[in-house]
Amino acid sequence: DWVMGNFAVEAVEKIRAQVGEDEVILGLSGGVDSSVTAALIHKAIGEQLTCVFVDNGLLRLHEREQVAQTFRENMGMKLVVVDASDRFMAALDGVTDPEAKRKIIGRLFVEVFQEEAAKLPRAKWLAQGTIYPDVIESNGAKTKKAQTIKSHHNVGGLPDTLHLKLLEPLRELFKDEVRELGIELGLPAEMVYRHPFPGPGLGVRILGAIKREYADLLREADAIFIEELRAADWYDKVSQAFVVFLPVKSVGVMGDGRTYDWVVSLRAVQTSDFMTAKWAHLPYELLGKVSNRIINEVKGINRVVYDVSGKPPATIEWE
Ligand code: XMP
Repeated sequence: DWVMGNFAVEAVEKIRAQVGEDEVILGLSGGVDSSVTAALIHKAIGEQLTCVFVDNGLLRLHEREQVAQTFRENMGMKLVVVDASDRFMAALDGVTDPEAKRKIIGRLFVEVFQEEAAKLPRAKWLAQGTIYPDVIESNGAKTKKAQTIKSHHNVGGLPDTLHLKLLEPLRELFKDEVRELGIELGLPAEMVYRHPFPGPGLGVRILGAIKREYADLLREADAIFIEELRAADWYDKVSQAFVVFLPVKSVGVMGDGRTYDWVVSLRAVQTSDFMTAKWAHLPYELLGKVSNRIINEVKGINRVVYDVSGKPPATIEWE
């Protein structure tokens, strides 16, 4: 693409001029914005960039390995992967309130990131995947309500206490342009067109108290749902799709015996702005196949339901 090709060339020049010989640190989530930011800055300054990826124990199946594969192996970036899942699980132990869970996850992320930043004393810049809609949103967020919504959706925000200068090369781009740029920079289409994933991750898809056992079951079920959506060519027709873990046990039969296992809900929505959304009318055959696979393949889940609630009044996530 000519426009994004040009943008990339100019952005690379600008980053080089801004940063000079300094080092840059970036919190990589694996989402579109931080991934494209990383790819662009890496193109500009190579080894002067260090990315930090934090595994909070609430990521999707194989996510950590995929990020390492893409950025370290395929693109040759300096990438620090921190397995902080024990810390997150310990801090979240017994916490049931959704906002309390978000705060803990957000605070711990900042803590872990700061510890890593302290190990890179030559880093002078903090790169962030801020895009144009984020700029507008934070300028516009004058009311208390808007600010609460904002904090609710920006768990990964890093404080000024790092004393780093901000590098935000995507500040002028809309989401579509960010995706185009990602493709231009050679990121895999699967990553560039992936559905959004909330900062608190599976933490808001496990209702109430979080347990590692629940997260493990949810990861398996979610991977099956996504795999079947892709196989049926439905992934790109929905805006977001995922599985929610319900801490509820129900009775089932399997062979000669009874089971007493967990329930999960599938959620798939179509939306243009995520402010309102419709539940996706997925084909019954697809729903049936996903349900069969989850129940047969994920030991511990014996019931699958489908969420047919629109937003409003329901939200897209369950917490
Ligand atoms: P709701 O559930 O409010 O979600 O209808 C709207 C969109 O925002 C995402 N979401 C979050 N993203 N941190 C995030 O980064 C959060 O705490 C958070 N909560 C919801 C949600 O996945 C959907 O895309």
